[in-house]
Amino acid sequence: MIAVKKRVEESSGTPENFIDRFNVKTENKEIVGDGQKIIINNFDNKKLVEEEIMLDSKKYILSKTDTRGVIEYGNDYFVEISGYQENELIGQPHSIIRHPDMPKVVFKLLWQRIKSHENIIAVVKNRAKDGRYYWVITDFEIKIDKITNKVTGYFAYRKAAPREAIRKIEPLYAKLVEIEKVSGVDGSLKYLTALLESENKTYDQFIDEVTGRNSIMKIWFKAMKKFFS
Ligand SMILES: Cc1cc2nc3c(=O)[nH]c(=O)nc-3n(C[C@H](O)[C@H](O)[C@H](O)COP(=O)(O)O)c2cc1C
Repeated sequence: MIAVKKRVEESSGTPENFIDRFNVKTENKEIVGDGQKIIINNFDNKKLVEEEIMLDSKKYILSKTDTRGVIEYGNDYFVEISGYQENELIGQPHSIIRHPDMPKVVFKLLWQRIKSHENIIAVVKNRAKDGRYYWVITDFEIKIDKITNKVTGYFAYRKAAPREAIRKIEPLYAKLVEIEKVSGVDGSLKYLTALLESENKTYDQFIDEVTGRNSIMKIWFKAMKKFFS
């Protein structure tokens, strides 16, 4: 929590006018080991290391899941970065790499969208097996059986998130997580909705801005989908 709080304090260019509107209680995470880097989080008792894995901007992370989000396939880079063996990932829910700094509301929106057969672009912080983290921009593709018209699964395409996108989104996520501790996902959804409304933006417009509108990223995702379809 100390690290999160520090990040919120250090951030700039964020929607600060919203950051302190809610009076949110914070909890300290227990810091162990060298007193700096290793944290046992109270979310799922898995190890967290305050160290980022820097992704190769030329590479992509791809995974495929069934309709419940159970991993069916991961490309080599996914396996490498996650730190798991391929056979430790296949058959596991995608939340195996969930980072506790990720607000639940982002996953709620994600599932709402893909279940409605719509794409969503999300900036996601993931946790590797050793507790370190990495930031990605994720774009989804819904696989539909042409004969039955039923969803058969989902693809997630990911690239390294630009530093600017992380700088902008991290304090917002920290705030959403804090709200969720007190008011659950309903609270964070309310907060996010109020934020977007006051800025007169949809979630997609907000994400476009955060990630760089008309960015090369979108062109890349389009090309990837074409390649894998
Ligand atoms: C194709 C696909 C890819 C996903 N990728 C991730 C991911 O990289 N990291 C993550 O935390 N959740 C990912 N999710 C969302 C998870 O299924 C899950 O909703 C999330 O980790 C939150 O866990 P929970 O629903 O158990 O709270 C993905 C879901 C799908 C369908």
